Amino acid sequence: MVARVIPVEPFDLVIFGATGDLARRKILPGLFHRFRAGQMPAEAKIIGSARSDMDSAEFRDLIKAALIEFIDEAMRPDDLVTDFLDHLSYVHIDAMGETGWSELKKALRPETTRTFYLSVSPSLFGAIAERLSLNGIATDDSRIVVEKPFGHDLESAKALNKDLLKHFDEQQIYRIDHYLGKETVQNLMALRFANSLFEPLWNSTHIDHVQITVAESIGVAGRGGYYDQSGAMRDMVQNHLMQLLCLIAMEPPSKFTPNSVRDEKVKVIEALEPVATGDIVRGQYRAGRDNQSYFDDVGNTDSRTESYIAMKLSVGNWRWAGTPFYLRTGKQLRDRASEIAVVFKDPPHNIFPNKMEGRKGNALIIRLQPDEGITLRTTIKEPGPGGMRLTEVAMDMSFADALGENLMSQDAYERLIMDVIRGDQTLFMRGDEVEAAWAWADPLIAAWEEANQRPVPYDPGSSGPEEALMLMHQGGRRWRPIGDQAF
Ligand code: BG6
Repeated sequence: MVARVIPVEPFDLVIFGATGDLARRKILPGLFHRFRAGQMPAEAKIIGSARSDMDSAEFRDLIKAALIEFIDEAMRPDDLVTDFLDHLSYVHIDAMGETGWSELKKALRPETTRTFYLSVSPSLFGAIAERLSLNGIATDDSRIVVEKPFGHDLESAKALNKDLLKHFDEQQIYRIDHYLGKETVQNLMALRFANSLFEPLWNSTHIDHVQITVAESIGVAGRGGYYDQSGAMRDMVQNHLMQLLCLIAMEPPSKFTPNSVRDEKVKVIEALEPVATGDIVRGQYRAGRDNQSYFDDVGNTDSRTESYIAMKLSVGNWRWAGTPFYLRTGKQLRDRASEIAVVFKDPPHNIFPNKMEGRKGNALIIRLQPDEGITLRTTIKEPGPGGMRLTEVAMDMSFADALGENLMSQDAYERLIMDVIRGDQTLFMRGDEVEAAWAWADPLIAAWEEANQRPVPYDPGSSGPEEALMLMHQGGRRWRPIGDQAF
């Protein structure tokens, strides 16, 4: 299958923090891929801006080096790289001061839609939004894009929203959660709402439980300072896992429009029941053969921050009463593997004489990464004349096999940036959505902070702490093995 490319309208894109890691690693390579695909119009203008005092030629050199570092050679022919770099220029701006704003204003075209991408610390969001507005740079149809972390708690998230909303309308604000840009994450909506097969079963009458796993094999080395102030709850659960939960649990929106989809997601967060302390397990990785401990990675031997968390949640509404949602995420686990497993109840009555040993039951497993795809665990007859014995098999579909490797290789940022330029907010978090997620997370964090609870240790390369296994076992259930592609 070949990707259909619909070029976007001409645009002016200003990237604040354009010399930073995210811009070099994701944003500019993402734009290059879209350029290579023919989606970026000839009139597109990308203006980098940062504190460093450099000129456009130096900026292009810096980005050229980034493209060479982060894109395979075969994907970046020299002439294409040169053509792409022609779209780039640089303005030195002091986000907190007066330098550069009038140059920026001059560099923008009056009739062209403007996008301001704030790839900077959240502490600068308010200052930049204000200067864009006071200097007459932001127009009524301008867009502003902000990166995670969007707040550290409800209060700080509200303050950020307030700062942005002073100068931009909600329809102009694009809060990125890069998980929403992942192909398979969007496929959750297609799977649920474009098929008639699953929706009748999508409720607590038929679904025993749901497991959402985002496992990482890397540690926090290199980002220890940030991470130790956040932990898995703030870094992953409040945003990425919460988004996955919303897409799995939400009611069908009446239309596929940004606000219809986001309205339904907010309702899921608001329906979450309070979580009992015993339904949360927090862990911290030990030192292993090839890695240092969490303490050493963050340089804080007394840290109480979790590098792993597992929890059991209940969505208190008509559809989901009685079906638990188990979430887990962590660093230094045995594999990088993210998936959602929807585990169905057993048939109401067993007509077969032989009980199947180790039966796991029907499950729909949606693999987010790697090897994106869907597996349906199904019970069939074991072949052979030896009576009626049952076994389980996987009906397995890898998206790369079905649709082509090249279609699945797009990075989340490519899609998200193009969506901003198109003015489509569906895959971005609305202000009330972010606040609802913090309002849910805050009391849980406050409870363990008040108890001064130490996370339990776990071995690097493992599936996490034993206590997390117990959390499942208590309900007579089991986690799926991490990274086990079998089924
Ligand atoms: C980021 C977190 O938002 O997501 C990181 O801050 C984490 O800690 C990353 O490693 C995971 O993203 P992905 O796309 O690699 O699963």
